[in-house]
Amino acid sequence: APPPPPAPVNIVAADEAGIARAAELLRAGELVAFPTETVYGLGADAKNAAAVGKIYALKGRPAGHPVIVHLADAARLDDWASEVPEAARRLARAFWPGPLTLVLKRAPQVPDAVTGGQDTVGLRVPSHPVAQALLAAFDGGVAAPSANKFGRVSPTLAEHVFADFQLAVPLILDGGAADVGIESTIVDLAGERPRLLRPGGVAAAAIEEVLGAPLAAADESAPRAPGALPAHYAPKAHVRLAKRVEMLEAIASHKGRRLGALALEVKVPRLNPALQRVVPAIAAQYAHELYAALRALDAQNVDLILVEAPPGSPAWAAVHDRLARAARGATEGAT
Ligand code: TXA
Ligand code: MG
Repeated sequence: APPPPPAPVNIVAADEAGIARAAELLRAGELVAFPTETVYGLGADAKNAAAVGKIYALKGRPAGHPVIVHLADAARLDDWASEVPEAARRLARAFWPGPLTLVLKRAPQVPDAVTGGQDTVGLRVPSHPVAQALLAAFDGGVAAPSANKFGRVSPTLAEHVFADFQLAVPLILDGGAADVGIESTIVDLAGERPRLLRPGGVAAAAIEEVLGAPLAAADESAPRAPGALPAHYAPKAHVRLAKRVEMLEAIASHKGRRLGALALEVKVPRLNPALQRVVPAIAAQYAHELYAALRALDAQNVDLILVEAPPGSPAWAAVHDRLARAARGATEGAT
């Protein structure tokens, strides 16, 4: 018989002792996974290039992709950014702590390992109480991408982090299920006009309202954002967006392929209940459950996940972005 899987002894309660231990590991140049309100992050001391290098190695992430620096509060912006335009201050006041990342001109002392060698840095003040406590205890910037293997679905539970890395992460702070469930919205304020690099936890319309101006879309000259690679956020199974009737047809004629389904509100008939997940047709609740549902279906070793297409209204923009990337596949265009 195969050896039993290792027990997740590195998943630790996010109490005072757990947070103190996590801060100690960060100071020692080690990695710590921690919950944020969006997804779990894989953190390192952002001022320690060698520690940040461990993130790349562990994730299997190609070099030259910048990572977000997490800060305890907006007062620390000027330690990390050389230019903080008025628009950035306004967005910080409106949405921090919260699921918004601001891309600004970097301060000279920010390591290249963090910025990917670019002249900008991504900064975010997360609202999750465990992330807040960790940042306060560590008293510095924490560089953290999502705590998943490169190109895979982001983790929204401590167990997801363990599923991707097992014992290779020294400590995973357990903060339960991430509230928002998809990654932060990224706005680039380092250029001439504010640009939306990634839709996410804060609606673009809410940002535009605070800016009093429309957000430009990311374009070819945009800084590299692996979250913007077509093959990102992909489960192992193929993903296909479909209307309900198309799902039913596919299930009726599946020809031996193992099908899974992500259904809106109502269970899909004539499909094994273990091979489907029913998610709410409310954008925020759907986002909260999406990655866990994709991971659960992947764990059933399905060949294809049929995703019932959600509504097209603006509230669903970030969800559609992630579903479209997942549908484009884990291998096609992957780096
Ligand atoms: O919600 C989130 O943003 C989560 C949590 C952990 O904070 N983090 C996250 O990190 O999603 P990651 O690395 O998986 O995605 C961050 C995205 C990447 O696409 C990265 O390239 C982009 O942010 N990014 C970071 N710094 C940037 C910069 N200076 N310019 C352009 N894009 C940047
Ligand atoms: Mg990621």
